[in-house]
Amino acid sequence: MTILVTGGSGFIGSNYIINLLENSQEEIINLDLLTYAGNPKNLSDFENNTNYRFYHGDIGDSDLVNKILNKYEPKSIINFAAESHVDRSIHEPSGFIQTNIVGTFNLLECSREYHNKLSENERLGFRFLHVSTDEVFGSASPSGPAFNEKTRYKPNSPYSASKASSDFLVRAYNRTYDLPTIITNCSNNYGPYQFPEKFIPLTILRAIEGKEIPIYGDGQQIRDWLYVNDHCDALNKVLNNGLPGDVYNIGGLNQITNLELAENICEILDEVHPSKQSYKSQIAFTKDRPGHDRRYAIDCNKIKKELGWMPSESFSSGIRKTINWYLEHQEWTDNIIGGAYRAWIKKNYS
Ligand code: NAD
Ligand code: TYD
Repeated sequence: MTILVTGGSGFIGSNYIINLLENSQEEIINLDLLTYAGNPKNLSDFENNTNYRFYHGDIGDSDLVNKILNKYEPKSIINFAAESHVDRSIHEPSGFIQTNIVGTFNLLECSREYHNKLSENERLGFRFLHVSTDEVFGSASPSGPAFNEKTRYKPNSPYSASKASSDFLVRAYNRTYDLPTIITNCSNNYGPYQFPEKFIPLTILRAIEGKEIPIYGDGQQIRDWLYVNDHCDALNKVLNNGLPGDVYNIGGLNQITNLELAENICEILDEVHPSKQSYKSQIAFTKDRPGHDRRYAIDCNKIKKELGWMPSESFSSGIRKTINWYLEHQEWTDNIIGGAYRAWIKKNYS
């Protein structure tokens, strides 16, 4: 049985593929454009694994996508491929429109054609799982209810608007063409292999480099942190038992402000990687992100009730594991923080 994973060389996709190759007999085809966020080294241990194939290319390339679908006849497609960083979407939105909307549209079109050619049984078993975000719901009020599957979409950044658009296309392909699509909207992930422009790895890296740890605005924004392996488990549950046409919210049940999170990381680093003074002294408040959402919070009762999934990692153990992973894999970070990364830091923080 074959699964086509798109964007499998990025943060969540790499973790997903590693988990599957280590714990199942599934054959995985990874289609990834290898943008700055994609790192083939994440999966280099599996280069000679006969269950793994890598294709370097764009989800917007219909010839390539059709070729892969016809050659490997996957039973499912799981779409992680995206431009995923809000701050980059503010500086340069066009790539977000191209990959997240046009690219997803192309993947849907190719999948529709492929699905039409399958036998009745294969058609019934096929799934197109689209990995989306809680950011499509916009900003939750500080003490208001968490987002559930019926919460209205109110995206506030070019990134979240592009993901919301792709979700609507995915929904439409189910309702119009009977393509068995499922959408998941998850909260902020953290864990190994996350590109260090995102808040948690950025904080760890800047701390141990002795640099300022940038906190946007007042640092009171709340995120609901989900350990990446818990997310991968949820995706497998959705892929195997979720209902076509349905939507599932996936959250970490870990709401914390950015400032508390940065302080928490500093305290753990003070303990496991002590410096002359506490890393907290490096925390610096910087100009706020335009349109910055104050709070994300996920109500994941539906996936709990219907598919029996709950996050299993506590934040205190997940964040320690993540910090240790970055401390033990400094060569991984050294390899990716080249010129492009430095140029981004200069552009966003100067
Ligand atoms: P990421 O930026 O780390 O990885 C994205 C991957 O997609 C990279 O490997 C990149 O090379 C690839 N890619 C980009 N454009 C492509 C294209 N046109 N064709 C093929 N591949 C392409 O992202 P991530 O954090 O792993 O997120 C994966 C998915 O999960 C995204 O769709 C994102 O919107 C969603 N999501 C992420 C989070 C999070 O906290 N990281 C939270 C909610 C939802
Ligand atoms: P991020 O990891 O970019 O995820 P998202 O914007 O998708 O939630 O940021 C997480 C939170 O951390 C968000 O509220 C913005 C904040 N943040 C900072 O305060 N400083 C930073 O340098 C970055 C990158 C993020």
